Amino acid sequence: MTRQFSTVGIVGLGTMGAGVAEVLARTGVTVVAVDVDDEGLARGRGHLEHSTDRAVARGKLTAAERDELLSRISYDTSLIALADVDLVVEAVPERMELKAAVFAELDRICGPDTVFASNTSSLSITEIGVHTGRPGKVVGLHFFNPAPVLKLVEVVRTVVTEPDVVADVVAFTEGLGKAPVVIGDRAGFIANALLFGYLNHAVRMYESRYATREDLDAAMRHGCGYPMGPLALLDLIGLDTAYEILDTMYHQSRNRLHAPAPLLKQMITAGLLGRKSGRGFYTYDGADSPVVV
Ligand code: 3HC
Repeated sequence: MTRQFSTVGIVGLGTMGAGVAEVLARTGVTVVAVDVDDEGLARGRGHLEHSTDRAVARGKLTAAERDELLSRISYDTSLIALADVDLVVEAVPERMELKAAVFAELDRICGPDTVFASNTSSLSITEIGVHTGRPGKVVGLHFFNPAPVLKLVEVVRTVVTEPDVVADVVAFTEGLGKAPVVIGDRAGFIANALLFGYLNHAVRMYESRYATREDLDAAMRHGCGYPMGPLALLDLIGLDTAYEILDTMYHQSRNRLHAPAPLLKQMITAGLLGRKSGRGFYTYDGADSPVVV
């Protein structure tokens, strides 16, 4: 019989964590959201309120439904709040030592049947799993940004993940209205492994002044029907996140396609992280001035 995950913990309430919390609460799941401090929680809460307000304004939710959705989410700064959840979805920054520490602590706090999922986009699920005493109950659960809109969820199984756990997680994601694919543990999984070579190539074209940012983006929107061009998409993803994903894939595969374009690093160092910092390849605070290359 398929196992129900009626109470789910989310660790890390950044863009992805907040998006996943919204997806879960929308389908009636009780969510316990944990972040390191009150500031992190307030930011995540603000993101959730903004996103659900927009859904009300667009007529996709009534105000009462929005209130009900938000009331299903509780907030805490301690992992101990996750003692009784059925499933944990971790969405902390992409650093193995951080994820390993979170799961090692959760392993002591949660019951033995709690399933652990990581929303990592490029780190090894197998390696995360061995930091727990339950590697058979550890999976990857990779959502896409914006999580409330995009249907794909990559369910990543390792060589030791129990088949029943994979089946339960797949059924759960289908119940959320998502379209899961089940894959093995390889850097970038399916979508990022294909997508980020393309995004990196676009940065290199821009960096070499082969094309303007507008022409690069227009070419892929109008020529290939993509909803966004590559540079606009990098701004949405966040240049720091994109760099980490490329760097991890490059170190695992040594495929030059994934060697991060130098311009990415320069922009990150200069604080140009994309939408979240107000400026990336484009600006989001009014005054527009293209990055000088
Ligand atoms: N949260 C919730 N809903 C959102 C949203 C957000 N952040 N952004 C847009 N939406 C909703 C809107 O409310 C709207 O809903 P409606 O049509 O039902 O009213 C719908 O999405 C379309 O939005 P807009 O009309 O404002 O704008 P667009 O039609 O241009 O769509 C987009 C915006 C959904 C972001 C679309 O451009 C898109 O899909 N872009 C590509 C995104 C993409 O490729 N993401 C993958 C990134 S890689 C990744 O996430 C992996 C990770 O590991 C890095």
